[in-house]
Amino acid sequence: MTLLTIVGARPNFMKAAPIHHAFARAGRDHAIIHTGQHYDAAMSKVFFEDLGLPEPAEYLGVGSGTHAAQTANVMLELEPVFDRRRPDLVLVVGDVNSTMAATLVAVKKRIPVAHVEAGLRSRDWDMPEEVNRVVTDTISDLLLTPSADADDNLAREGVDPKRIVRVGNVMIDSLLGFLPQARSQDTPARLGVPGPRFGVVTLHRPSNVDDPATLDRLLGVLIELSAALPLVFPVHPRTHDRIEAFGLAPRLAAAPQLLTTGPLGYLDFLGLFSAAAMVITDSGGLQEETTALGIPCLTVRENTERPVTVSEGTNIVVGTDPDRIRSEASAILDGGGKAGRVPELWDGHTAERIVDAVDGFLARTGRDSPAARRDSSR
Ligand code: UD1
Repeated sequence: MTLLTIVGARPNFMKAAPIHHAFARAGRDHAIIHTGQHYDAAMSKVFFEDLGLPEPAEYLGVGSGTHAAQTANVMLELEPVFDRRRPDLVLVVGDVNSTMAATLVAVKKRIPVAHVEAGLRSRDWDMPEEVNRVVTDTISDLLLTPSADADDNLAREGVDPKRIVRVGNVMIDSLLGFLPQARSQDTPARLGVPGPRFGVVTLHRPSNVDDPATLDRLLGVLIELSAALPLVFPVHPRTHDRIEAFGLAPRLAAAPQLLTTGPLGYLDFLGLFSAAAMVITDSGGLQEETTALGIPCLTVRENTERPVTVSEGTNIVVGTDPDRIRSEASAILDGGGKAGRVPELWDGHTAERIVDAVDGFLARTGRDSPAARRDSSR
């Protein structure tokens, strides 16, 4: 049996790592194929090093582009890889363009696909990831979900329950596994974070950073907040480009308690935010990671595809209105924030359940996937 996991962008790597290690422990033939959607060392290579991953078996060098170009290039580059390697099953993780592109190629070749992190929905079609999620889930064979809300979403869409296995949140396997090492790195001190109490900010969604007025407004409220709580802001390449293009860099540089850095590696970032009093973000993964560690999180978006972080965890979806961000941040500073609990199966053992689910699926179906059989019986 040959198994391939396809990765492309930063949030994929911490999900693929525990999967790779679990298949390796089980003595299985599993390899990682990297599309190259993210290519800067700080967005990619450092994660392979930090997470103890081997070099990808193949690196496709797809790079940046429009959604159509990036998706098409991943498909063109992956097709010969699948032809050569003839995998028995392909795993895809998350919701980035590489996830959807890989799924489309595999399914049309009748290679079974398991989607890790299936079933999440924001119901916001302005998010490119929502398109990727719906397409990937609709055509994948095995849907491995992180939480009960994901199962419910899939059931509402009429998915056969036999295709769904709730395995939990695989990113939390990496988080719990690497936390001691990350904490021992003393990242806040090494970065020169002012003060023992600080917050962490990340922003990269096109809806927040691509419009000059929105980005200016958000940076304004962050600068204001940093007077009460020093903030560390590792800046995503997209956000960096926009800050430069919109002439906002001098304003940021003039804020004495708002420390900007380049993108951080996995261990440095975990070491940093795990010591934070508050996280302000538009990331998907960070909403989950803060919930897992009980750190208050303000999500600067109008919705979330991860509602369990709100209903059970420490997350509050605050939108982009400065007044709301200001008042929720003050409430956290005054009262310590929402007490949350860790959702079921976010326990550090999800990758083992993924191995079991994949084994169960392959035992049931062999190489003839349910989707393929469904198609040929039409
Ligand atoms: C992608 C994912 C998003 C995820 C994010 C995490 C999609 C649709 N989006 O968004 O879900 O949350 O990754 O980072 O797949 N760039 C570099 N170096 C790199 C990569 C990107 O400089 O290594 C710059 C390029 O200018 C590029 C821009 O960042 O055009 C955006 O990169 P892209 O991969 O298109 O999307 P992200 O915004 O990173």
